[in-house]
Amino acid sequence: QPRLVIAIDGPSGSGKSSTSRAVASRLGCEYLDTGSMYRALALWCTHRGIASDDPVAVARAARDLPIKVRTDPASFRVELGANDVTEQLHAPEVSGIVSGYAGVLPAREALIVRMRRIIEDCGRIVVEGRDITTVVAPGADVRVLLQADPEQRIHRREAQLDGAADHETVAEQVVGRDAADSATTRFETPADEGVHLIDSTDLTLDEVIDRVVALVPHEL
Ligand code: C5P
Repeated sequence: QPRLVIAIDGPSGSGKSSTSRAVASRLGCEYLDTGSMYRALALWCTHRGIASDDPVAVARAARDLPIKVRTDPASFRVELGANDVTEQLHAPEVSGIVSGYAGVLPAREALIVRMRRIIEDCGRIVVEGRDITTVVAPGADVRVLLQADPEQRIHRREAQLDGAADHETVAEQVVGRDAADSATTRFETPADEGVHLIDSTDLTLDEVIDRVVALVPHEL
C-alpha cells in the first residue's frame, strides 16, 4: 500500500480523537495521538519533581523519556519504561498541568523528532494534535483543522466525563487549557494554506469522518 499521512489538528472537545481513530481504522492506518506524548512527559516530570518552569530539566526529560507508543487505532497505548500509563494520561491532574510542560520549546523539539520518526516508520498513519498540520508534518497528504464552538466542545467533554464533573468545572478546564496553550505555543490560527477547515459543531461524528475520508486522494 502507498504511504499516506493524515494530519488532524484541533482543540480539546473538537472531536479530533474520535475522528482520527475512526479514520485510521477505516483506511487501515496506524494512529498517533501526540497529545498523549506531552501528557506522558508531564506525568514523568511530576513523578520526578521536575517543574515546568525549569526548561533545562524538562528538555532533558523529553530527550530521555522512555516512551513507547503502540499505534493500533483500536487500542492506542503509551508505555513509560515498563509501565502502561495510557489510562493515567487523561486524569484531570495531568490535563491541568500538561500545557505548562508542552510550552517548553526545547522539550517540544525533542518530542517532535520522535513523532516524525514514528510517522516515518508507520508509512500509513493518522496523526492528531495541535501543530501537526503546521510544524510536525506540514507535508502530510491530507491536512485538517477541526473546529467547534466552545459551548459544543464543553458539552462533549461533559458527556465524555459522564457526570464526573459539573458544567462550570468542565467549562473552566476546556477554556482554561485553550488559553494556556495559546499563551505558550503558536497553534492553529490562522490555518496554513492547504489545510481543510471542518467545523464539527453541527455535524455528527460519522459526518466528520466521511468528510475527512473524502479528502484522501483516490490513489492513496
Ligand atoms: O490533545 P490533548 O488535549 O490530549 O493534548 C494535551 C495537551 O498537549 C494540549 O493541551 C497541549 O498543551 C499539548 N499538545 C501540544 N501539541 C500537540 C498536541 C498536544 O502542545 N501536537
